[in-house]
Amino acid sequence: MLRILFVCLGNICRSPMAEGTFKKHVSERELASAFEIDSAGTSAFHIGSNPDERMCATALKNAVSLAHKARQLKDTDLETFDYIIAMDRSNFQNIKSLASGKEGLLEKVLLMRSFDTNHTCDDVPDPYLGGLEGFQEVFTIVDRCTAQFLDFLVKKHHL
Ligand code: 4NP
Repeated sequence: MLRILFVCLGNICRSPMAEGTFKKHVSERELASAFEIDSAGTSAFHIGSNPDERMCATALKNAVSLAHKARQLKDTDLETFDYIIAMDRSNFQNIKSLASGKEGLLEKVLLMRSFDTNHTCDDVPDPYLGGLEGFQEVFTIVDRCTAQFLDFLVKKHHL
């Protein structure tokens, strides 16, 4: 069983979408039994909230299901999960701070766009203060990155 955690700031936009697209790719390849998949936010801003309604609308349009209540990243997540995937460099730094002093855990923390075949930037852009097109862009990026991430895991762990 591989445990995968996607992390952004609020856990209402990017990481729930990454969780949703990764689950879609996993189920299309009939690998659901090989994974536990979750998402979390580094902030406490939206604990208990559903994904942002603009992200939900984008998910519906692209046949991705989002069923998640926002939660905050906790230090035990660093031990529980095998891979912790940060949406941007700021999330990455925040997760690394939580892991500091526990050297073995740092290598679990990776950037989502390090798996991007179209790597134009290190960050999945934060869509929160922008327009609807930003939400579609998040879908396009994380759909592509989570497919590549799954390819990487299939090869590395012989799934
Ligand atoms: P997320 O987007 O990190 O992709 O969930 C955000 C959601 C909320 C806020 C910022 C980004 N906020 O400042 O409340």
